[in-house]
Amino acid sequence: MNSLTQDAALHGSAVGLTADTITFRGGQPLKGRIEVRGAKNLVTKAMVAALLGETPSLLKAVPNISDVRVVSGLLEIHGVRIKRDDASGDLHLDPSNVESAHMAEINAHAGSSRIPILFCGPLLHRLGEAFIPDLGGCRIGDRPIDFHLEVLRNFGAVIEKLPDGIRMSAPDGLSGAKIQLPYPSVGATEQVLLTAVRATGRTELRNAAIEPEIMDLINILQKMGASISVDADRVIRIEGVDRLEGYRHRAIFDRNEAASWASAALVTKGDIFVAGARQAEMLTFLNVFRKVGGAFEIEEDGIRFYHPGGDLKPVVIETDVHPGFMTDWQQPLVVALTQAHGVSIVHETVYEQRFGFVDALVDMGATVQLHRECLGSEHCRFGQRNFLHSAVISGPTKLHGADIEVPDLRGGFSHLIAALAADGVSRVSNVGIIARGYENFIQKLHDLGADFTVES
Ligand code: EPU
Repeated sequence: MNSLTQDAALHGSAVGLTADTITFRGGQPLKGRIEVRGAKNLVTKAMVAALLGETPSLLKAVPNISDVRVVSGLLEIHGVRIKRDDASGDLHLDPSNVESAHMAEINAHAGSSRIPILFCGPLLHRLGEAFIPDLGGCRIGDRPIDFHLEVLRNFGAVIEKLPDGIRMSAPDGLSGAKIQLPYPSVGATEQVLLTAVRATGRTELRNAAIEPEIMDLINILQKMGASISVDADRVIRIEGVDRLEGYRHRAIFDRNEAASWASAALVTKGDIFVAGARQAEMLTFLNVFRKVGGAFEIEEDGIRFYHPGGDLKPVVIETDVHPGFMTDWQQPLVVALTQAHGVSIVHETVYEQRFGFVDALVDMGATVQLHRECLGSEHCRFGQRNFLHSAVISGPTKLHGADIEVPDLRGGFSHLIAALAADGVSRVSNVGIIARGYENFIQKLHDLGADFTVES
């Protein structure tokens, strides 16, 4: 019997924005249908892109997550008028009165997200200056912004570091540049796109990230009037234009959320239909999911993920930039690997500290060892740098209930599903972080038959 009442489900804690701790009684398979809407990692950037248009934009399928609220707040203090319809997910953004924000207002957003760094190019074009507060985001590594700053300098921005953030100006305007990224960074590629589209002349970006969310941002910018081509071998060329219009666009679905629910189905021996999920953007994930022993059926309106019975199998995977196995898919899958028969290896090559969540799994009975060495076919950037970035998981191990604290967004989701698979009662605290990227996750758990109680 589910102890979240319907009433509570329809209020704040249901979307996860006010919940702090959830007590789970594990052992129920998750079964049913949930829907994923627009990708967190596209929607927040698409909102920033609206700053570049002379006319209003309409973004569809925007999820109700706290990262969207943070970016809305930042846009509003810069004069963008925002109207949101929660039911449809339509977000109207009117940038006709973009203005400089007060330092104190900007600083109120310090530490809450990494998106402010992407405001630089658009604000420099619109206002000639930008102030960026100290950045937040998940604590999964150092997360420097050196690539971003170098990119902006290449376009002609003048950067001044202040005690509480960074001030930028563009006294001579911004001009197209030839840029080669040291690593195909998602954020730095977006920085180039959002700056180059209105810079004077041509920009050539080499070693660009080509994640589907970046391709969708390019779709949006093209709708606005930008001229962008994507060539073979991670080369993107942009021809700057004088004026961009607003856009109307339906955001690409959240493939990270879809992969998380897929792992939840596997871990709990369940059966979840993820409406809105599509095959093309999940190809690499689906291959691994099947190798581990999961089954899926691709339908026109979504993907059914389920545990077909039998033993789960161990795998060896390395996370990588697209089209590789995404770093954001790793954490929920590791929970499934604790139930596989044999030894699995996960080599994390994108972030140096993305195994913070495994301590809790070990407390719950999992056997996971972390290593500093690159346990994969590739030597990655972290190999000689003393980071515990390879995991060896031996299974199957019975998981038992424990008191655990959510460390970050994806690690947090993996804690939820570990608690759901464990024998006995688990208290998972700090679950508010999960609402940064998982829309209505508490309501969805309820709809899938999880047995839990929420404390605010
Ligand atoms: N990096 C630098 N310098 C920089 C920028 C990045 O060294 O200036 C390094 C990072 O430290 C990291 C690597 O480059 O080791 C890749 O970082 P990237 O810039 O690609 O990541 P990001 O743009 O900060 C986005 C997503 C992440 C996702 C990564 C990889 C958003 C808001 N975040 O981060 O999503 O894991 O790309 O695909 O789009 C999440 O959703 O939980 C999440 C962390």
